[in-house]
Amino acid sequence: MRGAVEGKADPVPGRPGGGSLVSSAVEFFGTRFSCPVLLASGTCGFGEPVVDVMATDAVGGLVTKSVTVEPRWGNPAPRVAEYAGGMLNSVGLANPGVQAVREDKLPWIRRHLGALPVFVSVAGARSEEYARVVGELDGEEGFLGFELNLSCPNDSHLGGRPFCLDPEALREVLQLVRPVTARPLLVKLAPNDPDIAATAALAVECGADGVTAINTLPGFLPGGPSAARLGAGRGGVSGPAVLPVGLAAVREVAAAVDVPVIGVGGIFNGRDARAYLDAGASLVQVGTGSFADPRCAARVARELGGAVR
Ligand SMILES: Cc1cc2nc3c(=O)[nH]c(=O)nc-3n(C[C@H](O)[C@H](O)[C@H](O)COP(=O)(O)O)c2cc1C
Repeated sequence: MRGAVEGKADPVPGRPGGGSLVSSAVEFFGTRFSCPVLLASGTCGFGEPVVDVMATDAVGGLVTKSVTVEPRWGNPAPRVAEYAGGMLNSVGLANPGVQAVREDKLPWIRRHLGALPVFVSVAGARSEEYARVVGELDGEEGFLGFELNLSCPNDSHLGGRPFCLDPEALREVLQLVRPVTARPLLVKLAPNDPDIAATAALAVECGADGVTAINTLPGFLPGGPSAARLGAGRGGVSGPAVLPVGLAAVREVAAAVDVPVIGVGGIFNGRDARAYLDAGASLVQVGTGSFADPRCAARVARELGGAVR
């Protein structure tokens, strides 16, 4: 199987790439993860929280903020709002752009994060932008692979529908990106997809080595009779409200593809993470949980315990 790796001593039956029955370390994409809990894109910058609040081996890895060709300042404030079910955000892909990531962020990651597996998240408004970011970073050291954030609006097709909700656009991105890198290539899919299993299968057919599910769910919160809580109006829902949404997506995706599935959405404790692994995920990511508690992912990893079934 492409990129997906031989499991270690005791492969888990039915889980692509296996996993170890005897310790929390797992091996996927030819790489050892000290535990199956990673930090999710957009919620851990370029890894700074890892050195600020935890030991680098307390989590299994991280996914950087999504990187675009040009720097982006993001959406107008306020960009985040809390509500009973979790959080609504419209950060708007604020990031320093690919050149700064190559010149500053990756060298920092190499110096401070050692061997911690890092995926660089990639975003764009056009298919070619994904290929350009991947092409400009691929020759650098300090990271394992790429996670394509396909929830971005596609400006050149169908009036801005997200890439992952437009099969032709998704195919185009992978046709451009896959030849540019031999590194593990994950696609990150959206929960508001009427057939996420078919989308995942198409992505794998086009060369994806793994599937991450889910990104945030579109949402809106009123800030008054004619105003929105967020400066941009709409945003993405994350946190406890999306746990069942992510679990359903992972179950469907895991049944449809034979590459590792990375589960994300609403994980705040070891039980949540276990539910994702039981649903078919090989690895999990913690996002909003890190805002509630900066050490959340390390605690999730501890609570998950020594044995990864
Ligand atoms: C403030 C914030 C910023 C985010 N930025 C990104 C991003 O840049 N790229 C991306 O793929 N996902 C981004 N996400 C989505 C998360 O990685 C994750 O998929 C989603 O929040 C669901 O997980 P959670 O409930 O654990 O937060 C962001 C989420 C939040 C809350």
